[in-house]
Parts: sequence; structure tokens; C-alpha cells
Amino acid sequence: MRVLERLDELYAIGGGPGANRLGGSAEEDEAHERVAAWMREAGLDVDVDDAGNLFGRLRGRRRELPEVWTGSHLDSVPRGGRFDGALGVVGALEAVERLGSRERTLAVVAFREEEGCTGRGCVGSRALCSAGFEMLPAAFLELHVEQGPQLETAGAPLGVVTAIAASARGQVIVEGREGHAGTTPMSVRDDAMVAAAELVLRLRDAAATAEGAVATVGQVTAEPGVTNVIPSRVLLSVDVRAQDDATLEEVCRVVPAELSRTAAVPMAPRPTRVLREELARRGLPPRELASGAGHDAGVLAAAGVPTAMLFVRSLNGGISHSAEECSSPEDVELGVDVLAVALERLAAVEK
Ligand code: GLV
Ligand code: MN
Ligand code: MN
Repeated sequence: MRVLERLDELYAIGGGPGANRLGGSAEEDEAHERVAAWMREAGLDVDVDDAGNLFGRLRGRRRELPEVWTGSHLDSVPRGGRFDGALGVVGALEAVERLGSRERTLAVVAFREEEGCTGRGCVGSRALCSAGFEMLPAAFLELHVEQGPQLETAGAPLGVVTAIAASARGQVIVEGREGHAGTTPMSVRDDAMVAAAELVLRLRDAAATAEGAVATVGQVTAEPGVTNVIPSRVLLSVDVRAQDDATLEEVCRVVPAELSRTAAVPMAPRPTRVLREELARRGLPPRELASGAGHDAGVLAAAGVPTAMLFVRSLNGGISHSAEECSSPEDVELGVDVLAVALERLAAVEK
């Protein structure tokens, strides 16, 4: 299957283990170039915007009408999975190639630096939406792997996303006092690492007791950062997610730092209904779920683009942001097929 072969090609770019195409890296550039070449082969008009986002357009018969967009991102976390982001771009290209020209122009898009491994993420889609649209797209559909266990548990190959979770990210600086590791009695220490560890546990407890919330400290830097000096400063990254903004605030209260927040975003009724109806027509389980992960779809939806997301079942317990990320060829094919039908309906002019 061409989609899987292309995913393999993109996966090989960073050299492994796992996908290594960090946002802003030469590997992300290479992935964009590879996809641009596939777009040209498919006869799409290729364009790169000021933020570096890649567009491949299959011109419609009614060029004056708002376009229908579909896509995702090509960057990855370090040692990431084969499907996260890349499936949404390669699958979109496949769906558009199969459809051929329609009334509305179909655009396949690859957004830059979605992951935000060291910052806020969705860099390309946010830049695009702040610059403003020449013409607001009629719809945006993002195909993505679930990255969680719900569809696997429910025995459903596909799911329709209801909303993207609220999130907060930032950095906490914990201050202490440096001293000799061998001579400073425990009773007089002001150890920044110990205080940081206590904060990590408070955050864990706050998230564990708030319905549907999660919190992660994924990066720790100690200063001066040597074995025989008590740490004087520790920098912690903080990432909090919740299904609604109020729950997010509740968890963020334990974090003594300014975090940058992104509100929860619901998906739009019409494109979501189109996906739901297509699952029903095929007799597939009507699974609907909120996304704990952030997506470019959330940025476009918040900017007023009628947006929907289709999830493909993740296997292996839903593991993602890991080289063990896995979806079956059958589920991937089904996802591309449902995407194509949904695009076909959205690219037709409603009577
Ligand atoms: C992106 O994958 C995120 O939600 O961290
Ligand atoms: Mn992703
Ligand atoms: Mn990701």
C-alpha cells in the first residue's frame, strides 16, 4: 500500500531509532521536500507560505469558491512514531489523488513544527491563522492516529473527534542554594532538586484528582549540574491537559509560574456530521472521543475554519510519541477511504 510505503520513507529520514524529524530541523525540511515531490508527481500545484507550511492544490472547477483543506504535520518528537502527523499528510495526498478534481479546490497541507517539543507547538498553523486567510477555507479535515487506547478497547477502527483538550505549557524555575555535597548537613540544605521533586509530585496529585486531566514534567535541568554540588536552580518543563478550561485552571494552580494556555476547542458540526454519517453508512461503530493531544485542527477550528478530525485506531495499548506507535494497514486504508468520501462531500457545492 502506497501510504505505508511513504510513511516508511519519511520514517527513515531521521535515521532512527524511531522518527526523528524535530520541528525546525533539516530532517523536517527533508520530509517537506519529499512530500512536495509527491505532490508534484500527483499533478498538484505546490506552494509554501511565509511560515514554511506546504500546500498542494488540486484545482477545482469552481476556483472562486472557498477551498477544502486536509492535512497534518511532518515534524516528530525525538524517537517518535511512524504515524503521528505523517499519516494525516500522506493519507490526505492519497485521498485527494483518488478523488481527482472536484467543484471546490482541494488542498493538502503539511503544517510546520506542530509538536513544540521545547515550546508551545502548532507553530506553522498558528502563524498561518495569525496572518489571516485570503479566503477562509470551507472546511479542514485532519486524519490522525488516536495516540490512546480508547478505540482499541472499544473494538472500533475509527473514531470521530468531538473536541481538542485545553492545554498549558511553560517552565518553572525552582531556586535553592548551592553547597558542598559532602560537607553540608541534610538539616541545613536548601536543595532545589528536592523542592522540584516535591512540585512534580504535587502536580501529579493535582492532575490525578481532577477528572480527565493529565500533567507531565518531561524536561529537568539542574544547575550547576554536577554530582558533588547541591543544585542551586532547577528548571522544569510543565505540560498540563484537561477536557475543559476550568479543570485546566484547577490543575495549573499548583504551578508557581506563568504558563501559556490554549483553550479547549470543539470541532465543527457539519464536517463532523459528514464523518459520522460515513461511519454509520459503513456499519462501523459510532465512536466519538475528545482528543487529549494537541493538533493543528484545534488551531484552525479556533480561527473559525469549520474543522473535523478522524482518528485511526492505535494498537499496542495506544502508545504514541514512541517508536512502538502502531496502526494496522486495514485501519489505515479505512481511514483514508472515509477521509476521501468526506472530502468528496465537502468539496461538492451544496444545493
Ligand atoms: C502533540 O503531539 C502534543 O499534543 O503534544
Ligand atoms: Mn500529531
Ligand atoms: Mn505528536
